[in-house]
Amino acid sequence: MHTGEGQLLELYYETERAAARILCPPLLIPAPGQYLLAHDGSDTPLAVPVFPAGPAADGFLAASSLPRAWTPGTQLHLRGPLGRGFSLPITARRVALLAWDDSPARLLALLPAAFKQDAAVTLVCQTAPRDLPPEVEVQPLQALAETLAWADFLAVDAGRESLPGLRSKLGERNQAAAEIQVLVRTQMPCGTLAECGVCAVRIRGGWKMACKDGPVFDWRELRG
Ligand code: FES
Repeated sequence: MHTGEGQLLELYYETERAAARILCPPLLIPAPGQYLLAHDGSDTPLAVPVFPAGPAADGFLAASSLPRAWTPGTQLHLRGPLGRGFSLPITARRVALLAWDDSPARLLALLPAAFKQDAAVTLVCQTAPRDLPPEVEVQPLQALAETLAWADFLAVDAGRESLPGLRSKLGERNQAAAEIQVLVRTQMPCGTLAECGVCAVRIRGGWKMACKDGPVFDWRELRG
């Protein structure tokens, strides 16, 4: 874990692909599913978790949501990378990305690694970004069953409050499905520093903290 200075360079109008481009030292760039805590030096007491949406020159593309007060040129105090991110199996050749209830941006950070190992990629989402690489096939949420039958790895982005719905959708396919990892979005006000417990996620037989044990969890822990 490192600390350093960064800068918000660009904001994007359409946030489905990415919300901003952030300049930062290479050691601070989070891996897919990991995050940085960013603070703008204002009176706001809490830092903001910032997730990567993909690589960019001298930094990375950041997924939404970012504070409205951040504008191009905003200086950021950064801490990270934090948390456990996605672990794409090197054998995966049919990669599915499921944006269950939000923008797919956090999942799109996996594209370079998937393409590097010659995997085919299908994105299942409600609203697809316009500027996806042409190799990415896009399917609506209604096509989830077919995509699950095809994939050998599934990465999911879901809010903590949406996990019951995800469980009921994926539950009956637990045995047949590919390896599944889920990025659980929660508030993470302290980012491990104060052990506040706000980010607690119920797992099989107990609780874990999204900020340090996640935010990416193996589906077998979450499915209940
Ligand atoms: S955010 Fe405080 S313990 Fe996770």
